[in-house]
Amino acid sequence: MNSMLFDRLSTVQADLVIAFVPSEGGLSESTSWINENMGGLILQLRDDKSFSGKLADTLLLPVASQEYAQPVLLAGIGSDAELSDADAKKVISSIVSAIKPLPYKTVAFAGKALNVKGHDEAEVLTLVSQWLNEGFYQFTGFKKEDATLSIENVLFEGDNQAALDIGIATAAGSSYAKQLGNLPGNVCTPSYLAAQAQNMGEKYELEVDLVDESRMNDLGMQSLLSVGRGSDQASYLIVMKYNGADEGKKPYVMLGKGITFDTGGISLKPGAKMDEMKYDMCGAASVFGTMKAICELKPKLNFIAVIAAAENMPSGNASKPGDIVKTMSGQTVEILNTDAEGRLVLCDALTYIERFEPESVIDVATLTGACVVALGGVNSGMYSNNDDVKTDLLHASKVSADKVWPMPLDDEYQKQLDSNFADMANIGGPEAGSVTAACFLSRFTKSYPWAHLDIAGTAWTGGTTKGASGRPVGLLTQYLLQKAN
Ligand code: BES
Ligand code: MN
Ligand code: ZN
Repeated sequence: MNSMLFDRLSTVQADLVIAFVPSEGGLSESTSWINENMGGLILQLRDDKSFSGKLADTLLLPVASQEYAQPVLLAGIGSDAELSDADAKKVISSIVSAIKPLPYKTVAFAGKALNVKGHDEAEVLTLVSQWLNEGFYQFTGFKKEDATLSIENVLFEGDNQAALDIGIATAAGSSYAKQLGNLPGNVCTPSYLAAQAQNMGEKYELEVDLVDESRMNDLGMQSLLSVGRGSDQASYLIVMKYNGADEGKKPYVMLGKGITFDTGGISLKPGAKMDEMKYDMCGAASVFGTMKAICELKPKLNFIAVIAAAENMPSGNASKPGDIVKTMSGQTVEILNTDAEGRLVLCDALTYIERFEPESVIDVATLTGACVVALGGVNSGMYSNNDDVKTDLLHASKVSADKVWPMPLDDEYQKQLDSNFADMANIGGPEAGSVTAACFLSRFTKSYPWAHLDIAGTAWTGGTTKGASGRPVGLLTQYLLQKAN
């Protein structure tokens, strides 16, 4: 029974074998190998309540049995036949926590991956390898006692290396997004992001174009430029092109909000938690992360990543409430609140993107506190002017377990942006704040299929686990992979 796995494990000499253990019933086929080789030890442990198999409990057996003298980690999966995305993720997190302090580099799962509701086997393999690898991400570079942890190899029965590789690449992308997000604002400036793009360009042979302030000025991008005007840091529009298909194939474009610190400008934010506004470039980070995952996987499509990078600071040069700027599209904007700066940088970038004649454009932005109120940290808000893009994103969201929720863009909301002095105001009042922000962007995306992801609630977590989440790299990578198929 499962001798194939046994042969494989004995040849590869995994440092650690992981066995999923349910809290009820017999050990399923997936754990029969381990059961056989451990002489019924698992059931015995469960009977005497040493290890109950409760969801996300783990127990390390340093020497599993006489038959198998290697360490085995038992991982409880509870009593449900199929796990939800969230519970499956809990199981994998518990495994990561258990093996982090251990010296093992190659881990093998005894049997098939988990049964996860709504996912086929290949998808589960991808998710498990993604979550496992991503779990080892650690912010380094700023503490004296940085430890670097990693696993080098994850093995499953079944040899679906392609599925595992998607997970590994997605984890590399989301870990990169986490790292950029977690970097402090005094390190991660717009020019730092520009340098990252140049590094990516050299490493993966991408075409990189850094549009500096003088070129943006020539292009008429006065809205984007107005945001960085209060800062000593120069703004950049960063473009990275991955050419994986014929030149004639229209590109998929993703645009990230890259406000490397958002003080609010003259409409200054309150002090509490203002440090978290270093995360206001997490949309940009997720686009960098997606580019990394795509460069590792090399799907056959053309993909362009665009980053609108600026720092929002108060100063003698900064925009003031009531200032009017002309966007690259020709439309004018009355800046009633300098803290609604994300839409001001994105709108000019969205107009710039027209030149690529995109197949679709997805912008990703920590855009509104109102989206956090509406959806919390579970779902990213999704807006779109195109049913196909919406359907594709919802599907990619299911597959990647990276949740989005469709939000409305009805015309009736648009009038909240009326201004007596310009074509539009940059804020729409207290009601439906995430919607009116999306409505603002929709005025610049009329010429192509477009979706907007408001990730203000999902890009990072607070409290003791404070840190960037790496979302929605999983979703965006999956969206592009589906487009290449
Ligand atoms: N970056 C913020 C949005 C944000 C706030 C994200 C809190 C995550 C947590 C954005 O630039 C902003 O300040 N938006 C304003 C818009 C308002 C002035 C219309 C907001 O949400 O308060
Ligand atoms: Mn702001
Ligand atoms: Zn912001």
